[in-house]
Amino acid sequence: KPNTAELQEKINVLKEKKNAVILAHYYQEPEIQQIADFVGDSLELAKKAAQTEADIIVFAGVHFMAETAKILNPSRKVLLPDLQAGCSLADSCPPDTFGELKAEYPDHVVVTYINCSAEIKALSDIVCTSSNAEKVINSIPKDKEIIFAPDRNLGKYLVEKTGREMLLWDGACIVHEAFSLDKLIVLHKENPQAEIIAHPESEEHILKTAKYVGSTSGMLKYVKESPKNSFIVATEAGILYEMQKDVPQKELIPAPAKEDNSCACSECAFMKMNTLEKLYKCLKDETPEILLEEDLMEKAHKPIKRMMELSY
Ligand code: 13P
Ligand code: SF4
Repeated sequence: KPNTAELQEKINVLKEKKNAVILAHYYQEPEIQQIADFVGDSLELAKKAAQTEADIIVFAGVHFMAETAKILNPSRKVLLPDLQAGCSLADSCPPDTFGELKAEYPDHVVVTYINCSAEIKALSDIVCTSSNAEKVINSIPKDKEIIFAPDRNLGKYLVEKTGREMLLWDGACIVHEAFSLDKLIVLHKENPQAEIIAHPESEEHILKTAKYVGSTSGMLKYVKESPKNSFIVATEAGILYEMQKDVPQKELIPAPAKEDNSCACSECAFMKMNTLEKLYKCLKDETPEILLEEDLMEKAHKPIKRMMELSY
């Protein structure tokens, strides 16, 4: 069985040969982040996918991200190392029930968080990510009512931030709802020098404790630019790899999960389904591939395009 370095070398050789690009999310394993051509948050990865001229995009992330890449650049072959790499948040919003809600409120503007299926995007007016959500909400005319889906935590946060009442879909991310407020308070008492930073998919009581709330890229930027030297980080633990690389001298403590587990943090099992071996195999065999109906891609592209136009 080849070791990590051998596999990484084999992937690099194949990548050159096939004119492929590897896009990875910050929650991927370090050994995958190391061989990626680009590592980023959802918005940055979508932008890269839209711009790439590579023939093949290997998406080291979850299904909705690879789907978005395909929608933005349909002539490329988009591969996902493990097709089962889904997202609890995307799963919490099935298209049929969401379609029923939308039909009840035909005059509402539908804003959806990018963590949803292509079918949900096709039912949306505009998409957003955690790094541009406020801007997207503020772009909706004041006389319009809004449906926001699928994340109730990000939704509540945006209602507070923008002062816009919104009809919220009751979905959530299991990874960001796994943080324990009680344990976080104890940890903060033990580490009073540390500042809490959190991803907006976390629950309201966790966000209330945070000095900074933002996307994965936003958190990275904050930690780099802050004069503080210690942080408690409430998002998926994979981000700590890039963060520690950025600020080797600073102390980074993962926020504790309710359940005791081996990492004393919260990890996304979906993101971690992609392994270096699966990535190598998928690039070699050019499967599993993301394939979508033309009609669905066209419908889902419109609200993503609207978001992109606001995001440059
Ligand atoms: P970001 O867009 O902040 O990277 O978030 C993606 C995600 O899935 C968070 O759970
Ligand atoms: Fe989905 Fe949560 Fe995993 Fe992000 S961390 S991909 S929202 S399940």
